[in-house]
Amino acid sequence: MKKSLLGILLLGLVINFTTYASEQAAVAMPDAYSADAAKAILEKGGNAIDAAITAQFVLAVTLPEAGNIGGGGFMLVKKGDTTDFIDYREKAPLTAHRDMYLDENGDVIRGLSVYGILASGVPGTVSGMWLAHQKHGSLAWNDLVQPAVDLAENGFIVHPKLGRSVAGFIQRMKAREINVNFADYFADAKADTLFKQPELAATLKRIRDRGPDGFYKGETADQIVAFMSKHNGLISHQDLAMYQAKSRQPIRDKWQQYEVLTAPPPSSGGIAVLQWLKIYEQVRSSYKTMGHNSADYVHLLAEIGKRVFADRAAYLGDPDFYPVPVQDLIADAYISQRAAQINKTAISITDEIDPGLYESEETTHFSIVDKQGNAVSNTTTINLGFGSGMVVEGAGFILNDEMDDFSAKPGVANVFGAYGGKANEIQPQKRMLSSMSPTILLKDNNVKLVTGSPGGTTIITSVYQSILNAIEFDMTAEQAVNTPRFHHQLWPKDTIRYHPNLSESVIEKLKALGYTMQERRFGDLHMVINRNGKLEAASEASGRGKSIVF
Ligand code: GLY
Repeated sequence: MKKSLLGILLLGLVINFTTYASEQAAVAMPDAYSADAAKAILEKGGNAIDAAITAQFVLAVTLPEAGNIGGGGFMLVKKGDTTDFIDYREKAPLTAHRDMYLDENGDVIRGLSVYGILASGVPGTVSGMWLAHQKHGSLAWNDLVQPAVDLAENGFIVHPKLGRSVAGFIQRMKAREINVNFADYFADAKADTLFKQPELAATLKRIRDRGPDGFYKGETADQIVAFMSKHNGLISHQDLAMYQAKSRQPIRDKWQQYEVLTAPPPSSGGIAVLQWLKIYEQVRSSYKTMGHNSADYVHLLAEIGKRVFADRAAYLGDPDFYPVPVQDLIADAYISQRAAQINKTAISITDEIDPGLYESEETTHFSIVDKQGNAVSNTTTINLGFGSGMVVEGAGFILNDEMDDFSAKPGVANVFGAYGGKANEIQPQKRMLSSMSPTILLKDNNVKLVTGSPGGTTIITSVYQSILNAIEFDMTAEQAVNTPRFHHQLWPKDTIRYHPNLSESVIEKLKALGYTMQERRFGDLHMVINRNGKLEAASEASGRGKSIVF
């Protein structure tokens, strides 16, 4: 009897293994250059983390809207039985202070945290990639950086979508009389032409040869500090020398039959994604049916979004500075309490506050799975498209405008319409709150799904909806990333943003319920799904991404 039980158990394990193990690798990337470079590293015998490091540096060359060495991000890693979360989020400079964006009347000076020299936090990317390499890499560092050096030095062909974004950004800066030096460096990045970046190539060579010391010390550091001095910026040699990426424990929680690995603070994303999925799971059971993108579905998820974003504003910030109650916010009892507040037939009342300003969100994401079943979900950003618009003279890279992700003043929204208070106020050396939500779902410790997206606060929505699409509605990766999504975040009041192609009748029903409906796309998802051992990879068609399974 005991023997046969053991046999059944072993058979179960074998079936499970055959169901989830994959001999394939997959990359879902925001452009063709990063996709090809990541694939080449995997084919050379590199692991998913090696491929991610190469992709990150390539994107700093070929996707200047968001790819970067002048910004930061989060890398979620599943390697063998270990998991890791590399936090390379930017930090406020040492001389930053809580009221640095307020005028003498205590009002926020619009734009100061978004464009120009004061908008940047201390960049974290090079330190983050180095830490990822030290802990998890297998190929030599210089081989991982070299593809980016080649693309910067020899040039790459500008995708028409990049050409349009560059021209649009230059035109917007001119029209608004915003004084940034972006055009000096990028005006020649025109559609279908070869674009070279010699200064950036030289900087990347220093990083290739000296690791983080090639960025945070020596010539690159001198160039950053000289640029800061010239324009009255804050980042100092001390800021650069002190910057250290951090390895943190990912948030790990159960949802349905899966284990969700996701981003801890200073991201708001992991808590928000889990709250959304878990509250949905509780309330959904009280509906007879729940059609995908039906009016009931959109309203239910909007109701949940109200609560998720209220918590975000009140409780979330850098855990090194503020005690974020992570476990309390995703605890089953708390989820039940929030689920009980959902109004299934009407919109819960939101207080009147001025809506935030929406600008073009950027950030970028990629998902990689290697043949050993290791996975990386990496989201990286300089905040808005082309960051602060300031390019470090001599070093040729764009600086971020991540300081806008702090709360400049309680009750005043940032460019994403997000509010904050004490938890996310500016302090020297603090990391600003993020919505970046790189996420991996595991089934029996094997990768089931890797997902992530750019898009400011809509990142959270894209991530949880991609999970619902794939798991709850059993979509392929291609369908899961391209199905219309919708987003509600408490403010602007009762407003739902939705992708084109959400059904007209659903839109009318939601309007009748009292929602203001705004058609507008948000970030491009990049996702890998393991379906019974076969990988599917997809990059949302709205971007210029490329996905490969091989
Ligand atoms: N800069 C966008 C984010 O981190 O949420």
